[in-house]
Amino acid sequence: MTRIYLDQVRQEFGNTVALENISIDIPHGEFLVLLGPSGCGKSTLLRIIAGLLSPTSGRVIVDSEDVTALPPGKRDIAMVFQSYALYPHLSVAKNLGFGLQVRRFSKEDISTWTTAVAEQLGLDKLLHRRPKELSGGQRQRVALGRAMVRNPKAFLMDEPLSNLDAQLRTATRLELSELHRNLKTTFIYVTHDQVEAMTMATRIAVMNNGRLEQLGTPTEVYDEPATTFVASFIGAPPMNLLPATALSIADTVRVLANGVDVTIAEGALEETPVLLGVRPEHLKRTEDGNHRALFSGTVIAVENLGSEEIAFCDIGGQQVAVRGPRPLGMVVGETLTLTAPRERIYLFDPVSTRRLVWARDADFVEYTPITQ
Ligand SMILES: Nc1ncnc2c1ncn2[C@@H]1O[C@H](COP(=O)(O)OP(=O)(O)OP(=O)(O)O)[C@@H](O)[C@H]1O
Ligand SMILES: [Mg+2]
Repeated sequence: MTRIYLDQVRQEFGNTVALENISIDIPHGEFLVLLGPSGCGKSTLLRIIAGLLSPTSGRVIVDSEDVTALPPGKRDIAMVFQSYALYPHLSVAKNLGFGLQVRRFSKEDISTWTTAVAEQLGLDKLLHRRPKELSGGQRQRVALGRAMVRNPKAFLMDEPLSNLDAQLRTATRLELSELHRNLKTTFIYVTHDQVEAMTMATRIAVMNNGRLEQLGTPTEVYDEPATTFVASFIGAPPMNLLPATALSIADTVRVLANGVDVTIAEGALEETPVLLGVRPEHLKRTEDGNHRALFSGTVIAVENLGSEEIAFCDIGGQQVAVRGPRPLGMVVGETLTLTAPRERIYLFDPVSTRRLVWARDADFVEYTPITQ
């Protein structure tokens, strides 16, 4: 059983703060995905875990041992490099056994081990092939197999699917998930692709600008985003975010903007600026004006995605996306009213960007994710 603990890891490059004191507790067998836009510090954090980079401050703990000062080879953690790191002139079998050969294991041992790993990875029929005769996904498995020789405590991967075409990516995603289930070892996986993160991760660490925005299961980060960044980075199209005002009218807290009227709760509240968030798939057309959440506007464009349609509406001068099965039945130029279930309406503090929740009859308080 391996536990990896990142304790206040900070990385500065000159004046750039690439990582701002990141702490993550990674239990054994986790498939942790580091997700975020380009430059947010994902690779830097992975390199620190691997030992390829020494952090400015903070510690990397593996099984209660402080490994921060240990070189990569002494950490029992394997960085799986992309397919181009395979030896092109060697067969799959030779590529898999290379590490053992270097360490002067006997031919029999190498063969036993290679066969076992090839079976585990479904490469047993491909042992005689050269890397160029393999698909991208198969090459990825050989690279992983080569890392397995060390029986590492964790596998680290940095955007391993970025070179593959869309179809192969989907297939390889499924393979990697299955492999993780079979190996029962910790995977730490870097990507900027939200679909990869949502489909493979046991938990996602959403990063932005060197900071950890939220750490949670795919369902948590999608359904209970902690910040506007998480809400808009995950989801396509992203969550609609509309500037609005929260206030109480006759002891009822409402959120109002041009074309927007949402009843939140009973209670008294001073006028507070908020950002109202609602996902495109939760907005539905309605003819009934009695809903607790109402958005009125005009349809400005409709996109046909095949199985679904996305309509863009002008709600009081702000663009709002609506997504649903085709046909949505919305026509460009028509006026309409939309509603969404109250529990699917999110509010955020426009300054801190953190999500606000209504504390019964009291006030708005900042939402704190359970897993953070
Ligand atoms: N060796 C370095 N020297 C100076 N700055 C660096 C160095 N390595 C990374 N950085 C900077 O640190 C920040 C984080 O870089 P990092 O490579 O970790 O981002 P990333 O999230 O992996 O991005 P991408 O998705 O583009 O790979 C960036 O601003 C980058 O320019
Ligand atoms: Mg990177």
